[in-house]
Amino acid sequence: MCGIVGYLGTKPAYPILLKGLKRLEYRGYDSSGVAIINNDELEMFKCKGKVVNLEGIVDEKAMTGTIGIGHTRWATHGVPNDVNAHPHMSENSELAIIHNGIIENYGPLKTELIKRGYTFQSDTDTEVLIKLIEEIQKKGKFDLFEAIRFALKEVVGAYAMVVINKKNPDQLIAAKMGSPLVVGIGKDNEFFFASDATPIIEYTKNVVYLEDGEIAIVDRQNGLKIRTIHNKTVKPFIQELEMNLETLELGGYPHFMLKEIYEQPRSVKDSMRGRIQVNTGTVSLGGMRDYLDQMVNAKRIIIVACGTSWHSALLGEYLIEDLARIPVEVEYASEFRYRNPVINEGDVVIAISQSGETADTLAAIKLAKSKGALIYGICNVIGSTIARESHTGSYTHAGPEIGVASTKAFTAQLTALMLMALVLGKEKGTIEAPTFQRLLVGMDALPDKIEKVLKTNDVVYSIAEKFKDVNNMLYLGRGVNFPVALEGALKLKEISYIHAEGYPAAEMKHGPIALIDENMPVIIIATKDASYEKVVSNMQEVKARGGVIIAIVTEGDTQVKSIADHVIEIPITESILVPFLSVIPLQLLSYHIAVMRDCNVDQPRNLAKSVTVE
Ligand code: G6P
Repeated sequence: MCGIVGYLGTKPAYPILLKGLKRLEYRGYDSSGVAIINNDELEMFKCKGKVVNLEGIVDEKAMTGTIGIGHTRWATHGVPNDVNAHPHMSENSELAIIHNGIIENYGPLKTELIKRGYTFQSDTDTEVLIKLIEEIQKKGKFDLFEAIRFALKEVVGAYAMVVINKKNPDQLIAAKMGSPLVVGIGKDNEFFFASDATPIIEYTKNVVYLEDGEIAIVDRQNGLKIRTIHNKTVKPFIQELEMNLETLELGGYPHFMLKEIYEQPRSVKDSMRGRIQVNTGTVSLGGMRDYLDQMVNAKRIIIVACGTSWHSALLGEYLIEDLARIPVEVEYASEFRYRNPVINEGDVVIAISQSGETADTLAAIKLAKSKGALIYGICNVIGSTIARESHTGSYTHAGPEIGVASTKAFTAQLTALMLMALVLGKEKGTIEAPTFQRLLVGMDALPDKIEKVLKTNDVVYSIAEKFKDVNNMLYLGRGVNFPVALEGALKLKEISYIHAEGYPAAEMKHGPIALIDENMPVIIIATKDASYEKVVSNMQEVKARGGVIIAIVTEGDTQVKSIADHVIEIPITESILVPFLSVIPLQLLSYHIAVMRDCNVDQPRNLAKSVTVE
């Protein structure tokens, strides 16, 4: 994880770096720092905690230098403190580096450098890297580019890094392997580096996504040059960003999470835009077009993902198996890649990732690709690594998601999966025409229905007030609402730090029921579908043990109302589409509880939005 930024241009670097770091803080917020060449001095400021702490130690007015680098950290090697914060300097204090990734062989490299007289202030792998570069430069009398190139050949691991050199205030050098890095190209040799495009968008829309093994040199005189680690020249491929600045601002909401929950009517619509036509009864996904035969004839589909995206994957299994009758297996990417999975040529592997950068998901698709599988990426971030590593795929078009807890990305992923299931089902002839049409109508109506669910906010708020101090919560659901129960529980634990478990409602009898008493509220998704009566029985079992029930029910339900202590109503929709609606009150509930408990909703402790370490 970690976020990195760099700037070289004509404006003071510090405010640009600072704003960039705030945009990248979702990637980690254990510490932050900047290094700027200011009046011929390489000045470095860094401290533990959020970027706001950094502001407290930098005198902005005195910082007029027009070249600098900045970093916001999610700690891997070394505890989060001032010393381990990036940037890190060379022994002679002439070079400074920022780094996102892990240098796996830093131990032996460090031992060797210590033997050669180097001293280390921090416990980080990054300090080893900059001192290795320094040593190679000194020993071989190389220029900085060559020294970096040779150093990277000795390094095993992942990195996106930028180096600043006091002796050359006209140049920054960056390199990428595994971790993401974007170069922004402004006017008149103004350049930006960042882990994603969000720090760049307000200055320029022209960007280059660096590929693994590439080293980018930006220079006031010579512009941008890209060479590989093997010293081959690469012609920069300049792309235009489609991002919109407003999506990166709070726009009047107190938190990004709340804004993103409320954006769902629009984001679900955006995910469907141009892909679904109710009047002509058509559904299409551009990414499937050239691979349709292979996908329709696949013997099985494997979906790999992590976190919330894994919950979408579970729903994908229900949707694809139900509508297209293709067997689907869902795997945590981190487990899949380490257990010697059976992958056959012709298998289809779907990778779901909001960020498109999750290291385990990326490694899983690389493995599957090497064994001949077709890789279909469902990503939100355009140009992200997983999107680029996939043979084909679909963007979810939810817009930037900044709150660490995923909300609108989840419903957008469901939209993409639902469209895929519809395309496959239609092509295979496994969906009857009237059902297909009913589902299209149902999909089309979802944005308005989500809008309606958001109107339950006051009811959800008052429920949050009652339960904000509990220590545990159980979430139950069946069928498509089981993954929703898992997602509801994840939302609560990640932002309010209340222990929560999601379970299939019927499994409650096999363990969790032992925990139920008046102090363990149980949230049950009990919408009207085939398993409704069974869920009602599960509710009776909870009640019989003195449990307190919060139920998500279908509008107009009276039976559950008579049993549950609190109910939240959602509109009627097709059973298979219920998750789009039932998840919304759970997102709101965890949001309100977290705010009431004074938790940092957008940046929960120990978490990061983009998990680029394995
Ligand atoms: C982190 C985030 C989650 C996210 C998960 C997978 O844990 O905090 O919100 O669901 O990573 O991320 P991805 O970007 O691959 O969907």
